[in-house]
Amino acid sequence: MPKQEARTWPEDTCVTDPSPSLIDRLQTAASAAREQAHAPYSKFKVGAAVLDEQGRIFAGCNVENAAYPLGTCAEAVALGAMVVSGGKTCSHVLVIGGDGDLSPCGGCRQRIAELCGPDCIVYAVAADGTALKEWKMADLLPNAFSFDR
Ligand code: THU
Repeated sequence: MPKQEARTWPEDTCVTDPSPSLIDRLQTAASAAREQAHAPYSKFKVGAAVLDEQGRIFAGCNVENAAYPLGTCAEAVALGAMVVSGGKTCSHVLVIGGDGDLSPCGGCRQRIAELCGPDCIVYAVAADGTALKEWKMADLLPNAFSFDR
């Protein structure tokens, strides 16, 4: 069994510096996470970053599996990083990958809906940093399923 190398998160995985602009900071974090993507099957690397209610940014990448349905989207990993650090809701989500046609899958829309504030904004950026798209989360998943708590 090969000795496992220590893993470090990219420096930008948790960014608290308020400058430069929010989208730039989200993009920097998501792009660094995308570099770590484990996507040997689709070869489609994705990074995601979320901003929590404490102003912290958490990032994730897609993590595929030889048993294909077990693969995890970048958004799920970023949201998990937020939750494990005590974050409750995100107000902004940015995903990066592809060449301009990226948008969160249906499952991730439901994941974001579970953990986002009412006015959450979702951005998608092509892997080369161009083609920024922006949606209100409420438009991406109207009538999201939820329990009244
Ligand atoms: N993927 C994401 O991680 N996020 C998205 O928003 C869209 C798709 C991943 C899942 C899979 O690993 C690869 O991209 C191809 O679908």
